[in-house]
Amino acid sequence: MRIAMIGTGYVGLVSGVCFSDFGHDVVCVDTDPAKIARLTAGEVPIYEPGLEALMARNVAAGRLRFTGDLAEALAGAEAVFIAVGTPTRRGDGHADLQYVMAAADAIARAADDGVVVVTKSTVPVGTNRKVAEALAAANPDLDFDIASNPEFLREGAAIDDFMRPDRVVVGAETDRARAVMAEIYRPLFLREFPILMTDLESAELIKYAANAFLATKISFINEIAALCERVGADVKDVARGMGLDGRIGNKFLHAGPGYGGSCFPKDTRALARIGQENATPMQITETVIKVNDETKRRMIDKLQALCGDSFAGKKVAVLGVTFKPNTDDMREAPSLTIVPALIGGGAQVRVSDPQGRREGVASLPGVTWCDDPYDAARDADLLVILTEWNEFRGLDLARMAAAMATPRLADLRNVYAPDDVLRAGFEAYVSVGRIDAVNS
Ligand SMILES: NC(=O)c1ccc[n+]([C@@H]2O[C@H](COP(=O)([O-])OP(=O)(O)OC[C@H]3O[C@@H](n4cnc5c(N)ncnc54)[C@H](O)[C@@H]3O)[C@@H](O)[C@H]2O)c1
Repeated sequence: MRIAMIGTGYVGLVSGVCFSDFGHDVVCVDTDPAKIARLTAGEVPIYEPGLEALMARNVAAGRLRFTGDLAEALAGAEAVFIAVGTPTRRGDGHADLQYVMAAADAIARAADDGVVVVTKSTVPVGTNRKVAEALAAANPDLDFDIASNPEFLREGAAIDDFMRPDRVVVGAETDRARAVMAEIYRPLFLREFPILMTDLESAELIKYAANAFLATKISFINEIAALCERVGADVKDVARGMGLDGRIGNKFLHAGPGYGGSCFPKDTRALARIGQENATPMQITETVIKVNDETKRRMIDKLQALCGDSFAGKKVAVLGVTFKPNTDDMREAPSLTIVPALIGGGAQVRVSDPQGRREGVASLPGVTWCDDPYDAARDADLLVILTEWNEFRGLDLARMAAAMATPRLADLRNVYAPDDVLRAGFEAYVSVGRIDAVNS
């Protein structure tokens, strides 16, 4: 198949590269000339494990190209995927569809007859029909079909998720759209990964329902964690005891500083708006959002208590600022709430993160970037583990404690065992959903 991919972000680039690896002929296009220049030079503009090698292999095989020229990308394309951003619109919590609609308008002007226009971006229910209307209005002569194909990949494991998905969801209502989508995903179909064909609205809603459900699990365990701290229970044991029940499952039951990232915050907000607009308030999702905001605030209170109720003049070492490990994505990361609160309260903040610096320089002004965790911890009054990168799971705790002015650890990902931390020389250890440990 000849495929055009509009948008070369975390989803568009991974999808384009993986489709080319399926054997399709893929052209990726983006309005950001700097991204296209880097991609053309063989550089991957984001951090995603394994992506650079897979991209190089398919470029070398002549199946993958990059361009800033949409008409060139669309020439002869049998399918065009829209994989542009759908961030929260300022002010009202809606998904901002301006990039999707701009892409649709550009497709109307440049696509060839017979094209299937596929929305991969996460879009509110009804958007695919709006895209179809916009295409028909902008170019009444264009012969096209539409399909919805929401993406479920996780940053940090994106290639494996794309190549070995739990399921592929396709919303399509014509034989041609279904046939083209089946052909594109044939390598997965042959390996018996489930491909769910449905109508457009169901496909659109599956994506929001899935993300809201996962966010619900996280907010649920975070609320249970707060209760654990009050009643003296250990949230790790509670989560394990729950997760061993096959009906519940152990995934997404890790207590922490609240969910962040490019999807859960904006998708829960968008689902809440979709519910309100359709006179069916999504009460659970609305509460999940509230609990997540409270969770982040609760973390700040924890840190403040550990600093003697004031951050003023304190030196705080923060390990990890990306929203999760194995990505450089900082969008809506808990660090963006917690670090400014530290600085606003008068703390000096030293940060170490394996990939967060490039984005973080702009989004976390006022912090000092350190090459490694030991450097960050030098003379610190408090050490905070905010993102559980592997590098921070096996720290030499005694060395960390020795480097600090007052060795106190706030482990907001529950990476360590309280006894180990105290034995290494820390005077206090605070985590999430477990009682605080203090060296008497
Ligand atoms: N990031 C994830 O983990 C993830 C997972 C599943 C689904 N999604 C969804 O996929 C969509 C894309 O997310 P992302 O994280 O890849 O976004 P992103 O911001 O990383 O990338 C979007 C890209 O689209 C480009 N773009 C915008 N308008 C364009 C246009 N008119 N023509 C060409 N290029 C254009 C931008 O320059 C940017 O490079 C969103 O709807 C998101 O919700 C994301």
